[in-house]
Amino acid sequence: MASTQAASVPLLEMHGITKQFPGVLANDRVDFDVRAGEVHTLFGENGAGKSTLMKILYGLYQPDAGEIILGGQPTVIRSPAMAIAHGIGMIHQHFMLVPTMTVAQNVALGLKSSRGLLTDSGRVSARIRELSDTYGLAIDPGALVHQLSVGERQRVEIIKTLYRDVSLLVLDEPTAVLTPGEVRELFRVLKEMIASGLAVVFISHKLNEVLELSDRITVLRAGRKIATVDAADASRDELATMMVGHEVAAISLPPGTPGDVRLSVAELRVPGDRAAEAVSGLSLDVRAGEIVGIAGVSGNGQRELAEAIAGLRPVTSGRIVIDGVDVTGKRPAGVRHAGLGYVPEERMRDGLIGDFTVTENLLLVDSTSPAYFRHGFIRPEQVRRHCAELVHDFTVRTPSLDTPARNLSGGNIQKLIMARELSRSPGVLLVAQPTRGIDVASAQYIHERLFRQRAAGTAVIVVSEDLDEIMTICDRVLVMYEGNVVGTVDPRVTSRETVGLLMAGTAAATPG
Ligand SMILES: Nc1ncnc2c1ncn2[C@@H]1O[C@H](COP(=O)(O)OP(=O)(O)OP(=O)(O)O)[C@@H](O)[C@H]1O
Ligand SMILES: [Mg+2]
Repeated sequence: MASTQAASVPLLEMHGITKQFPGVLANDRVDFDVRAGEVHTLFGENGAGKSTLMKILYGLYQPDAGEIILGGQPTVIRSPAMAIAHGIGMIHQHFMLVPTMTVAQNVALGLKSSRGLLTDSGRVSARIRELSDTYGLAIDPGALVHQLSVGERQRVEIIKTLYRDVSLLVLDEPTAVLTPGEVRELFRVLKEMIASGLAVVFISHKLNEVLELSDRITVLRAGRKIATVDAADASRDELATMMVGHEVAAISLPPGTPGDVRLSVAELRVPGDRAAEAVSGLSLDVRAGEIVGIAGVSGNGQRELAEAIAGLRPVTSGRIVIDGVDVTGKRPAGVRHAGLGYVPEERMRDGLIGDFTVTENLLLVDSTSPAYFRHGFIRPEQVRRHCAELVHDFTVRTPSLDTPARNLSGGNIQKLIMARELSRSPGVLLVAQPTRGIDVASAQYIHERLFRQRAAGTAVIVVSEDLDEIMTICDRVLVMYEGNVVGTVDPRVTSRETVGLLMAGTAAATPG
């Protein structure tokens, strides 16, 4: 595009975009524009219509009304291929790479010029190296995708779009699955990209990130555009208020009095998938009425520890005791019977059936509970009332209780699973990444539910890579590094920097 034109005409304008789904007006006459060289963030509650608006831009959905103007020209985008031809790239929250292929093969996939992957592979690899040099995206074109970390896979997705010469890159919640280090790395790359004149549309629920990265922020609520503001003038409170339509009171952990030990882990050793040992002689106690956080960069044994406690992974040695019952080596049902409630990190995969309705998904684990069943017969009244209550309390945005779960927005699916799991009262509650992908107001509600569990005498363990979260809602924070606890800190008196150093394995353990 000519530079004079670039200065006056936005790269993209969307006017009056409207999109109706059964029972939901996902976009209601939305106006949105993006200029070259800026990061324009879409911010809003779960289900506000952010992904829908960007899927319309990317040609995945057709709008019912409204128009898209690219570089001053009204344009109809019928497919992602057309979007790409117009210089628009989109990285979805769930990556779309083929794990068994190399980086270069994934990048070449779907390219018109690559009739034979083999013949082109030399050229593709050379161009990948060029792009990784330009933007500092370290990646080996020959590596197999399944061997890469999440952060590296995202780099491949970015290279894949850059390879197609995009001028506008849409990233839908790119940081939800990244570690803090990977987020910093991503931001560095995005800043390089905008410095070279690209435009970025960014979607995130994390206010700190949004304020750091954005030039402008557009707030959507219930399908409508509320406002577009300059990030430099915006405050956290103002954005949160615009998002939900009323003030969001900050919550803080009320003081508590821990009781008896309900979960005791002693000298636990757990094998890893690739490494011989993922957890190396770890011990921890969690008491009734306390929330203990497990912080750490992902891949330091947190997942294996949680799986071992839940009975999903064998242990090499050591002991796990719940309320006085030795559950070491027990199967998941046995551990649950001893009193463990478990919300896994991979709950989209492990915790939900997309074709089932909202109600059916809420019943999944409690399908034999006397609250729902009597003499083998379902009690439809009780079921509906209970499910309606959960949907209301957790603000799961759904047209009805009979909507298939797969039609819900990303965050609302998360909320649905959390509603099911947090409505029970286990003796020990182990939750991984409780608010990943969840908007600010709903995240606060989930935290409140965890406080309520604590007040009821549950021993709560939260595994989270979100340091802000873990420092706000925990009584004690254990930092894991290379399979063991390298420090225990009191989040009320400890700086994030100290915890960050512990996470990096560079500070001495503090007694706690
Ligand atoms: N394919 C679909 N079929 C039916 N309803 C849909 C479909 N896609 C989205 N919706 C509905 O449209 C609304 C907006 O969804 P969208 O995915 O755009 O929200 P979002 O702002 O991206 O939310 P989140 O932060 O949770 O990802 C939601 O109520 C959702 O349930
Ligand atoms: Mg979304």
